[in-house]
Amino acid sequence: MRPEWSLDPAVVHLNHGSFGAVPVATQRRQQLLREQAERNPMQWFRERADRLTTTKQRIADYLGADTAHLALVPNASTGATIALTAIPATSGQRYVMTDHVYGAIRRAVERVAAQHGCAVDVVPIPLDADDDEVVRRLLTHVDERTACVAIDQITSSTAKLMPVAAVADVCRQRGIPVVVDGAHAPGLVDNPVVGDFWTGNLHKWPCAPRGTAVLHVAPAHQHLVQAPTASWLEGEPYPAPLDLQGTVDDTGWFAAPTSLDLMASLGLASRRQELSDLLDDGAAAIAAALGQQLLDVGTPTPTMRLVGLPAGIASDEPTALAVQARLAERTKVEVAMPVWRGRAYLRISCHLYNERSDFDVAAERFAAAFADIDQLLSS
Ligand SMILES: Cc1ncc(COP(=O)(O)O)c(C=O)c1O
Repeated sequence: MRPEWSLDPAVVHLNHGSFGAVPVATQRRQQLLREQAERNPMQWFRERADRLTTTKQRIADYLGADTAHLALVPNASTGATIALTAIPATSGQRYVMTDHVYGAIRRAVERVAAQHGCAVDVVPIPLDADDDEVVRRLLTHVDERTACVAIDQITSSTAKLMPVAAVADVCRQRGIPVVVDGAHAPGLVDNPVVGDFWTGNLHKWPCAPRGTAVLHVAPAHQHLVQAPTASWLEGEPYPAPLDLQGTVDDTGWFAAPTSLDLMASLGLASRRQELSDLLDDGAAAIAAALGQQLLDVGTPTPTMRLVGLPAGIASDEPTALAVQARLAERTKVEVAMPVWRGRAYLRISCHLYNERSDFDVAAERFAAAFADIDQLLSS
């Protein structure tokens, strides 16, 4: 399936999870749309609303959601920030999240909590916790002072599938709003939309152009939502003011259905187990080559695995990013190097364009690169 993408054959791509990869058909579709826009920009923007309605319907169908509750946002960071900003809170309340939270979303929670004079509870969840344990541990921190619970549906640094539906259920019974960060969920989770506020990226696993994400807000909260930028539709009911945010290049949105169609024709949904099996074997081979373990994350995602690294590689994100870049430069293998609880890991991703040989090449080259750790760590 690799010819469907334009990925450099000289590089082994085992990091779809960070920024996705846009298939050739979608790139062409977007380029055609850009050319169409440039032939008559006035007509392009006159037709924008109709095109948007059709596109949104296609995306809503893909997510199993109601288009009336769905807003277009450029990325999950924006979606989560809008959601957190919409939730009312009073001084002394507490925001609750886990210690697997994505860094940008943690910062968004901290920003909003500080604005309201609230504290933040970061709930430690063991890496291998199963769903029941996640819910139990999280709920010990949820009480009448809780302003909101923010939870990742699939965690970025630990590649863990979280029981968001169970968390949302309990919080609904207690009247506590839940923000679900579903950045990785579209394409990997059927009917992923859950909770009072949910955001998800189309530019990750469904392979849509970058800058295509959605925010879903349950009807009871929609009146609270404000678009980040005022527009001509300011004051109109949600989601209109979010869908029209000044003059932007909308071609990514309008090309997104090409990726959704392609993923359907390539059978992404029915091949998740295949990808998961390939990844189990392939990531285990990489771990073995490094004398490390494929880590037990409780409920793993179908398409990402966590591999241990020797201690002392990196204890913060900037250092890990620098080591990751040197590793990529030396091995021509792309993987993520998240830091969790002060320790660096390899996060290995797998999409339809990957084959077993990718993992074997990665294992061999990583073994050589990590054999000389000092060189890898020195800039
Ligand atoms: C769990 C999680 N949340 C949020 C984000 C942010 O996504 P974006 O950069 O598209 O805003 C990411 C990105 O990788 C993520 O993994």
